[in-house]
Amino acid sequence: MSQSKVALVTGANKGLGLETARQLAALGYEVLVGARKEAEGTAAAESIGPGAHFVALDMSKPSSFGAVSKFIEERYGKLDVLVNNAGVGHDKGMKPSETPIDLIRQTFETNVFALVELTQALLPLIRTSEAGRIVNVSSVLGSLNLNADLNAQLGDWRSFGYNGSKAAVNMFTATLAFELKDTPIKVNSAHPGWVKTDLGGDGAPLEVSDGAKTSVRLATLPADGPTGGFFHMNNTLPW
Ligand SMILES: NC(=O)c1ccc[n+]([C@@H]2O[C@H](COP(=O)([O-])OP(=O)(O)OC[C@H]3O[C@@H](n4cnc5c(N)ncnc54)[C@H](OP(=O)(O)O)[C@@H]3O)[C@@H](O)[C@H]2O)c1
Repeated sequence: MSQSKVALVTGANKGLGLETARQLAALGYEVLVGARKEAEGTAAAESIGPGAHFVALDMSKPSSFGAVSKFIEERYGKLDVLVNNAGVGHDKGMKPSETPIDLIRQTFETNVFALVELTQALLPLIRTSEAGRIVNVSSVLGSLNLNADLNAQLGDWRSFGYNGSKAAVNMFTATLAFELKDTPIKVNSAHPGWVKTDLGGDGAPLEVSDGAKTSVRLATLPADGPTGGFFHMNNTLPW
């Protein structure tokens, strides 16, 4: 059994997930690089170094989550950190009244249902950690307060699928944090900022090195840190 802290980051073959895994490894965590593409996941883990290992994790195949849990249990006996980072944004620029329902369904499958199901599958292992941390990578675009402001400048991101999925992620954070409030486990939502990735696009102001900081902070919170919150960097965001 490992004495190091063990972290699993989903969607860690590129973008914010890869950078989050890199920063956690630099802090001494044993990092599991979750990715659905083996070649990319392996290359990502190798680029991080010996503390990182590829784990096959396709968020579209919840039937495989049991195998992931079994692997972590047999190899480490616990999970200290789960960063639910994998996500998709299929309906940028689309009107809620015209978005194909299948696109909305696909978005919720990955961003919400898979995230919830993976967390449920791994929670027994997170409970065995002395200081479990669950980070749900959300977005400020999931803020009901922001979307309810008809004057807010959200550009092409007034879409229901993506924004609605992140609002649901935030509700999972709040409800799970309440369920676990008498345990050492902390559950928080992270808004990375608008970050240059395949999803964020080239026009984004933040580099991944800064974009990953919120997830890393919430993954490494001390015992007196917050739970059930929604954060960007050190700032609390409105739900
Ligand atoms: N970039 C931003 O400005 C921004 C802002 C707010 C929130 N976020 C959130 O940050 C998270 C990371 O996004 P990113 O910007 O780093 O985007 P990205 O570069 O497009 O990376 C998304 C990651 O999710 C993975 N993924 C998607 N569907 C998957 C599935 N079914 N199974 C396994 N992995 C899957 C992708 O894997 P593949 O390569 O296999 O597709 C990839 O590793 C997302 O939750 C996103 O909503 C990003």
